Amino acid sequence: MLTATFEPVLTKTMQYPESHTLEVYRKHGGYEALAMALQKQPDEIIDMVKRSGLRGRGGAGFPTGTKWGFVPKSTDKPKYMCVNADESEPGAFKDRLICQKDPHQLLEGTLIGSYAIGANRAYIYIRGEFAHEARLLERAIEEARTAGFIGRNILGSSWSCEVTMYVGAGAYICGEETGLIESLEGKRGWPRLKPPFPAVVGLFGCPTVVNNVETLACVPHIVKLGWEWFSSIGPERNSGPKLYGLSGHVNRPGVFELPMGISLRELIDEHGGGVPGGRPVKGVIPGGASCPVLRGDEIDLPMDFDSLTRAGSLFGTGTPIVMDDTTCMVRAAWITARFFAHESCGQCTPCREGCGWMQRLLWKIETGEGEERDLDTLLSITDQIEGNTICALGDAAAWPTRGFAKKFREEFLQHITERRCPLGGGSLH
Ligand SMILES: Cc1cc2nc3c(=O)[nH]c(=O)nc-3n(C[C@H](O)[C@H](O)[C@H](O)COP(=O)(O)O)c2cc1C
Repeated sequence: MLTATFEPVLTKTMQYPESHTLEVYRKHGGYEALAMALQKQPDEIIDMVKRSGLRGRGGAGFPTGTKWGFVPKSTDKPKYMCVNADESEPGAFKDRLICQKDPHQLLEGTLIGSYAIGANRAYIYIRGEFAHEARLLERAIEEARTAGFIGRNILGSSWSCEVTMYVGAGAYICGEETGLIESLEGKRGWPRLKPPFPAVVGLFGCPTVVNNVETLACVPHIVKLGWEWFSSIGPERNSGPKLYGLSGHVNRPGVFELPMGISLRELIDEHGGGVPGGRPVKGVIPGGASCPVLRGDEIDLPMDFDSLTRAGSLFGTGTPIVMDDTTCMVRAAWITARFFAHESCGQCTPCREGCGWMQRLLWKIETGEGEERDLDTLLSITDQIEGNTICALGDAAAWPTRGFAKKFREEFLQHITERRCPLGGGSLH
């Protein structure tokens, strides 16, 4: 078993009462990595993070050190670090845990990242609904400032950095990095066309890195325990510890810190305690709502970026939603489509019109009004959305609809031929 010798680091101090305070964080070695980082050149930190193999935990899995390396060194413009704490993907609730139970771990990672890219200001963009976590983070920022970890000449060095928190208004699109940047600038959160990428033209037109909460929480451990330690965990190109958020039909839903590459079945059966009543797994959305569904007979898979892509799905945020055999897959597809239709910002026609169209067709099929040609139309809409929008919300909406319709085609056809939901659904309740 991959987990036999694994020791959690990201959740290590969370078991202690008051784990969100500076006192508890420091008792367990908190901010020692920042002091170590400040003894090194920024490029050494970037190199370390590159060698660790850390890939972004916000969904796309982009190598973090490489992203930091894109920030131009010879520029007169200020540089910014933006923390993406918008976590709005259905199924994902891991970043919230860090903000709530160990905000200083996030702050330390944010400060080290800011130092590495040469930023003197970091913004934490937090989802509006996370009011409790926002308060805890605000308090943590104050504690860190008072202790000299934030502000001028940090720990006696020549480097200064301020951290500012910004509370969003609860829009999924503001988690998309350029939507986040627009929102931080006080505008409507409409994603920008890329290139230019934020590393070159980001916040206020200046070089900017946007990183996920969990990504940054990994950084102090890389500095302290070494890139070799980090890269030794999990499969090649997919290294490190990971916070898996497990939900749906499992006996023990929750956040589990385990190595990258753990088998999805092991995650569900051993850590999640299996499916209630011993029912069979019908399907799993492996990494948040935007990832194509896997059938129950496809879950003997390593949970990592490359393996999930090879299997025709996505690792996403690494937060599986489990569905047992009582689940109607047309309804599951409709609920997912309804979310994306609601969250589409409306800027691009294929996404704005396509998401609503998919939602309506799925509801038609679920309620027994569907025809076989609706299934073809549904798939054709997914083809027309994918790759034709400014940001990846369009893809994120098309992929799950296509996944459900292809993987569970028989069930879709059964709805159509029997003119009802065979699982007793078909109403709003
Ligand atoms: C519609 C949409 C919503 C997103 N929401 C989030 C989010 O809530 N949190 C997050 O970290 N990344 C989110 N992302 C991914 C970000 O655009 C970006 O890739 C990420 O913050 C980069 O951080 P990382 O490299 O550390 O993963 C979203 C992307 C899209 C297209």
